[in-house]
Amino acid sequence: LAGLAHSHQPQAASLPLSQAAGKLTILYGSQTGNAKSVAEEYRDYAQGAGLVAELFNMADYKAKKLKDETHLVIIVSTHGEGEAPDDAVELHEFIASKKAPKLPALKYAVVGLGDSSYEFFCQTGKDFDQRLATLGASRMAERLDCDVDFDADIQSWREKLTEQLKEELKSPSEGQVVAMPGVSLKPAGTLYTRKNPFTATLLTSQKITGRDSFKDVRHVEISLEGSGIEYRPGDALGVWFKNSPSLVQSLLEALALDGKAEVNIGDENMSLHKALEEKLELTQSYPSFVRAYADATQNAKLLQITTDSAALRDYLATRQIVDIVREYPGRLGAGQLVGMLRAISPRLYSIASSQAEVEDEVHLTVALVEYEAFGVQHQGGASGYLTHGLEEGQEVRVFVETNENFKLPADADTPVIMVGPGTGVAPFRAFMQEREAQEASGDNWLFFGNPHFTQDFLYQVEWQRWVKEGLLGRVSLAFSRDQADKIYVQHRLLEQGQEIFAWLQRGGHFYVCGDAQYMAKDVHQALLSIVSEHGSMSAEQAEEYVNELRKAKRYQRDVY
Ligand code: 2AM
Repeated sequence: LAGLAHSHQPQAASLPLSQAAGKLTILYGSQTGNAKSVAEEYRDYAQGAGLVAELFNMADYKAKKLKDETHLVIIVSTHGEGEAPDDAVELHEFIASKKAPKLPALKYAVVGLGDSSYEFFCQTGKDFDQRLATLGASRMAERLDCDVDFDADIQSWREKLTEQLKEELKSPSEGQVVAMPGVSLKPAGTLYTRKNPFTATLLTSQKITGRDSFKDVRHVEISLEGSGIEYRPGDALGVWFKNSPSLVQSLLEALALDGKAEVNIGDENMSLHKALEEKLELTQSYPSFVRAYADATQNAKLLQITTDSAALRDYLATRQIVDIVREYPGRLGAGQLVGMLRAISPRLYSIASSQAEVEDEVHLTVALVEYEAFGVQHQGGASGYLTHGLEEGQEVRVFVETNENFKLPADADTPVIMVGPGTGVAPFRAFMQEREAQEASGDNWLFFGNPHFTQDFLYQVEWQRWVKEGLLGRVSLAFSRDQADKIYVQHRLLEQGQEIFAWLQRGGHFYVCGDAQYMAKDVHQALLSIVSEHGSMSAEQAEEYVNELRKAKRYQRDVY
């Protein structure tokens, strides 16, 4: 069902366009799943508009095929300091290498996804865009750099691009294709999406760190009953949250605004209070707000901060929207405020359960973001909502974000090494539940770390049970603050280097989940030195070995 024809030409509806018309190829690279959803939605949209569109994950796409493409859309995210997602690394390197072919016949468009509070905003998208131009390809549209709240930008981008593509790709006899943007054929089970979430029920939210821990980590259980939602270990749950009423109140007071004022969001009229609670991002701050607010209030100091992007990032790091407004008081109209704030976006949590064990529930491991600053208590948006904003039995809107790049080996005999300090341990609880249900015979080895054994050993009882039952063959622990010197998971990996290398040599998979900024980088370095030392390889050979692991999907990361 590629599209609908006018009624006077009914045969066009069933005419396979691929024979006569050109084809659009969509490639995506995604770390957390956002770029993937945007790409899948675009594929559906393009097909709904009558185009022949094919979608590939960059990791599964043969780079040599680039020279045969005529129309290409690239949708790729950026994380950390301008890094490409794991599944985009290879293609990203290829197009920058000498092996990359000239592409004079190619027309392309790039969408970058990122977060404008980071210095290398959308860098990977920028790289693809520039590199394709250098190879002689021509842009169908200006590159779109999307911030965290990308829905509206994507919508107008895709409408424009698709009109253009319909012109370019139509076959000579195919002038009558009518756009049907609403039509999309989705496989069962993906009924609920980011834009159409399921209204689930919070079952429990229980603190699992000790009384003296300086971390507040919760085990959260949500009921998906009645949804038919299916997920697999390694997938994430998107959680839509509401800002806390007290935070909304503080912002209204700081600006002397009336919460009952009517404002317009999208096509909907609602009270300012509701808009602030449900529709707008308040718990993170972002450059676009500071710029707009500085401009509207003409505050000299704030204007000064906006001129230096490093200073602006530092400034934003510790502040929520209300902090900025309190620090530099100003007067705004309700509509003006709404125009400066970006749309709230759901938070993704790695799922900590397997449906083989919990059926229509989904479990999460949530670290509550909580800190005091400027004399008041601050809480993270979704983590605050799940731990304090909701009572058990109340509703919460959720959707599953599948992650094909973080999956147990297909073969249950394959050994698995799991590195998950802190809340990074979540998906490995799901892995163990799954392997237990499968009666999988492959060896399992968990590396876990946190500050203190007595306070922060998340799911201790469960790991111990799996050890006792023989499912979890090895557990290596790194309690960083139980001794004078810091011990981290990478130290444990290095100590066990010989064994780790042996597991890899017998086909083992290596998984890392948790902090991207420090931990995942240090663990990556540890992996390289293990391979180099115990495989007697040069640094380059070790790099190559680890690259091959990644390409074979035997080295997978879910890092944030
Ligand atoms: P720390 O806070 O005591 O320094 C989970 O957050 C665990 O990861 C904590 O024990 C934390 O230790 C540790 N951690 C901090 N930095 C790390 C790094 N670069 N690599 C691995 N673990 C780290």
